[in-house]
Amino acid sequence: MTTPPTRNLALELVRVTEAAALAAGRFMGRGDKAAADRAAVEAMRYMLASVEMEGIVVIGEGEKDCAPMLYNGERVGAGGPPHVDIAVDPIDGTRPLATGNLNAISTVAIAPRGTMFDPGPFVYMDKIAVGPAAKGKVDITAPLAANLAAIARAKGDRIEDLTVIILDRPRHEALIAEVRRCRARIRLIPDGDVAAALMTAWPESGIDVLLGIGGTPEGVLAACALRAMGGEIQGRLVARDEAELRRGRDQGYDFDKTLTMDDLVASDDVCFAATGITDGELLRGVKYAGGGATTDSLVVRGLSGTVRQVRAIHRLEKLNRISPIRY
Ligand code: FBP
Repeated sequence: MTTPPTRNLALELVRVTEAAALAAGRFMGRGDKAAADRAAVEAMRYMLASVEMEGIVVIGEGEKDCAPMLYNGERVGAGGPPHVDIAVDPIDGTRPLATGNLNAISTVAIAPRGTMFDPGPFVYMDKIAVGPAAKGKVDITAPLAANLAAIARAKGDRIEDLTVIILDRPRHEALIAEVRRCRARIRLIPDGDVAAALMTAWPESGIDVLLGIGGTPEGVLAACALRAMGGEIQGRLVARDEAELRRGRDQGYDFDKTLTMDDLVASDDVCFAATGITDGELLRGVKYAGGGATTDSLVVRGLSGTVRQVRAIHRLEKLNRISPIRY
């Protein structure tokens, strides 16, 4: 059955991530994570208010690092329909932004109301993410060697050809040793596992699978993007200690449950946008020059599966005349 073309909200969301990136990019290397977050959140909030939708923030800022919030439950948008859930990460990679390092991005995703996983206050999730070729072939509960063999088989590669991307954290010591035992290659990244998950679905990124524990909000954002791009992510909530485990269980969270794509975002009607703040492999960072700035973004729509790369040239002197946000 065909349907006539409809509005693509992702094309409006890219203005939101562009604004956050333009505002936050000024803080590159300044060593002030809080100020960068504040600038990104303010710009994102301001632009979200222009989008015709009735959104509820399901994945907001601040649970983990007490950043200024687009808090969970906040209503955003100019009014509906559509009625949507929103996931935001005004800066994924606050640390690299503050230290002037690579791979800080700004992201937003939306999906129909009630379809996004609400992780409550539980900030960590174990993840496995793959691109379209290995979709349906992995299982987060299976041994690592079995997953790597399945990915290699699906791609017509050998395990030795695969590259696994992992956040460089002490908690991943055993995982890294195990990947080495399986003889796959490893890319360790200091931060930014939303971009890392996207890379598994990005032709020529050279990344085959994301493994390991990262942020839960980032897991839901990655699920929205991968759902649209034809990849897959599975997750499992991870409690930091016994008290958190007990609190989660009291609130009805099952830390043993595999969160499938459908659990993380139960609709194909997702929209996702991301803009580079600092340079990265997937997206270039914001460049300011001659009274203007350039941004580099990805715009993804689940219904069609279209991925757009949007390079924008901004005239800051004009923007600063019409906007209260300081770019
Ligand atoms: P923030 O910029 O929001 O702090 O996130 C950066 C990040 O690297 C995420 O991409 C990742 O999911 C998470 O932190 C991992 O958490 P932690 O730094 O606590 O290991």
